[in-house]
Amino acid sequence: MKFFVDTADVAAISELNDLGFVDGVTTNPSLIMKSGRDILEVTKEICELIDGPVSAEVTAVDADEMIAEGRKLAKIADNIAVKVPLTWAGLKTCKTLTDEGRMVNVTLCFSANQALLAAKAGATFISPFIGRLDDINIDGIDLIADIRTIYDNYGYGTEILAASIRTVNHVSDCARIGADVITAPPEVLKKLASHPLTDAGLATFMADWAKTGQKIL
Ligand code: E4P
Repeated sequence: MKFFVDTADVAAISELNDLGFVDGVTTNPSLIMKSGRDILEVTKEICELIDGPVSAEVTAVDADEMIAEGRKLAKIADNIAVKVPLTWAGLKTCKTLTDEGRMVNVTLCFSANQALLAAKAGATFISPFIGRLDDINIDGIDLIADIRTIYDNYGYGTEILAASIRTVNHVSDCARIGADVITAPPEVLKKLASHPLTDAGLATFMADWAKTGQKIL
């Protein structure tokens, strides 16, 4: 399973990338706002840092403008994946840009039928939002499983990019189901290393080691 980082914070991306944990990056208008940076500048910087796909989201609502924005974003670097919302205009943009050889990430997916349409429009990635479904008492993980089944039934090549990941359990659930990619905030990716028994075990080892009076270095 590939790990994408869901942030426009270059320092956070860089720290995780140094450990080999970054297969790609996703951004959205809210994350760009949070970074306080210019979208074109910060996206270029991220693309230079990361070899994998970097999602940059369009902000227009009608198809013609969305396509024009997508073409402009795609010019930033070869590893740009143009991110479009799962609307009729977004699907039209997906088909147009895919036919031009661009990577497209169709975002804001909340149903299996939406995911089916994105695959038929040639999306490189479909982004179902787990956490936002959980927020309204619908199991977001069930959606990932449904999309996996549907895509496998028909051999669609669109990659399932599980998004709106809020917990470490979301990550392991997605891995169990077979999501192709998860995109998670840096804090969640860092939490994957934590376990209370690791902390407790290490504390015991350190205490016992101190009693030996030995040093390795
Ligand atoms: C996906 O690409 C989105 O940027 C993101 O995962 C949304 O997450 P949120 O629901 O926590 O804002």
